[in-house]
Amino acid sequence: MNTPVHITVTGAAGQISYALLFRIIAGDLLGPDQPIVLRLLDIPAVIKDLQGIKMELDDCASPLLAGVVITADPNEAFENADIAFLVGARPRGPGMERQDLLHINAEIFSVQGRALNEVAGKNVKVLVVGNPANTNALIALNNAPNLSPRNFTAMTRLDHNRAISLLASHCGCLVADIRQMIIWGNHSTTQYPDLHHALVKGKAALDGVEEAWFHEHFISAVQKRGAEVIAVRGKSSAASAANAALEHMRSWVKGTPEDDWVSMAVYSDGSYGIAEGLIFSFPVRIQDGEYAIVQDLPIDAFSQERLRATENELLAEREMVKHLFP
Ligand code: NAD
Ligand code: LMR
Repeated sequence: MNTPVHITVTGAAGQISYALLFRIIAGDLLGPDQPIVLRLLDIPAVIKDLQGIKMELDDCASPLLAGVVITADPNEAFENADIAFLVGARPRGPGMERQDLLHINAEIFSVQGRALNEVAGKNVKVLVVGNPANTNALIALNNAPNLSPRNFTAMTRLDHNRAISLLASHCGCLVADIRQMIIWGNHSTTQYPDLHHALVKGKAALDGVEEAWFHEHFISAVQKRGAEVIAVRGKSSAASAANAALEHMRSWVKGTPEDDWVSMAVYSDGSYGIAEGLIFSFPVRIQDGEYAIVQDLPIDAFSQERLRATENELLAEREMVKHLFP
């Protein structure tokens, strides 16, 4: 058997984690031969819940589960972590924007950034799920000067999946027929789901889809899908978010197919003129655990305007949390 991989999950007593943990120990993340130690972090008030979750994890008798640590101490949770899912944060309720959570959740990510810096593995792969995810990831990485900013990512895979599903249903094709979807920017209502490069059965999506549907329905439907789920379910998305988190991390570890890419919010290196140092969602290809932003895609005036709008929102969010950068 391989050496166990240490996977930290924060907010481990919450609804997303409940849908994530059991898939991890079933091998959906790292395959059927990779043992795992789960390191579960939550706040002291819910440690009893974590004890119950540990009992259920044990009762799965998963041959992959090599250990479970439950703790309210970030330094214990991130010790030697290879992979970290930063899920723990308050979700929004009906009528709120994700940015409204910034003041409530930001502090969590400075504390956890410092703990990652001190005790995690140097190649730790960090995915921030807790909202507002891009700026929370920015806070964490700014508090982790000994780690590379490339260790930190935020989740737009759920938006990516929503966009694929919506396009497939509009075209009457299978999800598997769609390639090269892109979500640009912030995991917020300024995100830009872009069909200019998408393929349906190998042909340009925009050759088969009316421009009015793309401009007037598709973009806002993807942008507002999270709020729509909250309005219908009364709670924010959980199983689909856990699925997206698992897929984001699996792509990062295992790579992307040759004929496709995925959307990931990563540290901007200035590609496409986006301000350096923001956590911005780009199309990325991944090989051997390293992502590369897909370069040189033509960007027309319509797309350029949307890229600027979501970049400006992220710049404004960065200003709002600068006091948390050491
Ligand atoms: P939840 O309320 O069910 O669970 C959150 C958990 O985090 C709770 O157990 C809470 O005790 C814990 N927590 C709070 N502060 C903590 C801290 N300092 N350290 C560790 N744990 C802490 O919420 P949920 O539905 O699981 O959602 C979690 C977050 O994910 C929310 O911010 C939500 O908005 C976000 N989310 C993001 C996406 C995305 O696509 N990026 C999708 C869905 C949800
Ligand atoms: C989502 O996109 O479902 C999550 O970010 C939850 C939310 O607040 O919309």
